[in-house]
Amino acid sequence: MHYTRMPIEVESPESLGYSTIECNLAESSVRDVLFSEVDINLNSLMIAYGDHVGKPELRQLIASECSGIHADDVLLTVGAAGALFIIQTSLLEAGDHLIVVRPNYATNIETPKAIGCAVTYIDLFFEEGYALDLERVKAAIQPNTKLISITTPHNPTGTVLGAETLAALCALAEKHNCYLLADETYRDLAFTKPTPLVATLSNRAISVSSVSKAYGIPGIRLGWLITKAPFLQQLFLAAKEQIHICNSVVDEEICYQYLVKRSQYFPAVQKEVQDCFSILDNWMANNRYLEWVKPSGGVVCFPRFKKEVEINVEKFYTLLLSQYKTYVGPGHWFEQSKRSFRLGFGWETKDDFVKGLANIDKAVKECL
Ligand SMILES: Cc1ncc(COP(=O)(O)O)c(C=O)c1O
Repeated sequence: MHYTRMPIEVESPESLGYSTIECNLAESSVRDVLFSEVDINLNSLMIAYGDHVGKPELRQLIASECSGIHADDVLLTVGAAGALFIIQTSLLEAGDHLIVVRPNYATNIETPKAIGCAVTYIDLFFEEGYALDLERVKAAIQPNTKLISITTPHNPTGTVLGAETLAALCALAEKHNCYLLADETYRDLAFTKPTPLVATLSNRAISVSSVSKAYGIPGIRLGWLITKAPFLQQLFLAAKEQIHICNSVVDEEICYQYLVKRSQYFPAVQKEVQDCFSILDNWMANNRYLEWVKPSGGVVCFPRFKKEVEINVEKFYTLLLSQYKTYVGPGHWFEQSKRSFRLGFGWETKDDFVKGLANIDKAVKECL
């Protein structure tokens, strides 16, 4: 494995220090939760090794939300990031070919690169509404293709793949004896009824998700993978046991107690996200300098400066942070031009979100 640190992590708000940022529009999740805000009691928790697959009641709870999924189809992992690492390192070796959508959450690209895989990127284009072109995926398949890797709802564009596309991708994986990895970390933040969980569509499909994005509890590092193929479950469990044996029982317990009472917390979070999205929609509709593909799910979008706008982008990002204490995710976090940036609308309070947008307006005008 050849690891290199990813710009999105080196420059992340937590690396920078949250105290340096007043308006955090770089985040890809809803606002983080304070322990005292949630009703969680750990007094009867035995701090022993946990079930290697994951706390059975938590797996049962996750499974119960997806028709056709059983608790045994769920393997708990250290965040969605842990699931992605387990899947990629279990299924891929140096020289193997895989197909990855770009832009993407950086790990989906960096881990196969670190393994030494041959990667074909399926680029998404603004002009095409960041839609996935199935024909390009089909054309990219090679005899040694092991994996097709997609993200839906997508980070950083917020586009969502429809049920037909997901079924077609599953059929493609089956036809070519490869696997479909679906990073569905933003699925609980769908704007409308979520598309079917990809793992329910085929034994060659693996779904990944976590509680990091929708529930504001990323610090417990709790995610999961779902597959209905017992052979894959055993393979991924073997990888998990060699990496860290089991999850933290503290994380599992907090996650379980949070999800059991989710209906107490989640509607208010959803309402706040919807309000910020309406504010953003309005701001974009009146924006002279920026254009976007309106997101269909999740809490991020990927606006870009209009072609005719001559702007010093380096100065823009520097000024935005140093003078206006406002942070967004520049395009290079996603191997894209810095004329695009990721803007998150789930994390900030409504007031600071409005202020952050106003700060972007000010910084833009000073950099033209
Ligand atoms: C698409 C996607 N997948 C996975 C992750 C990792 O999330 P987690 O905190 O669950 O490891 C992220 C985090 O930004 C993400 O955007």
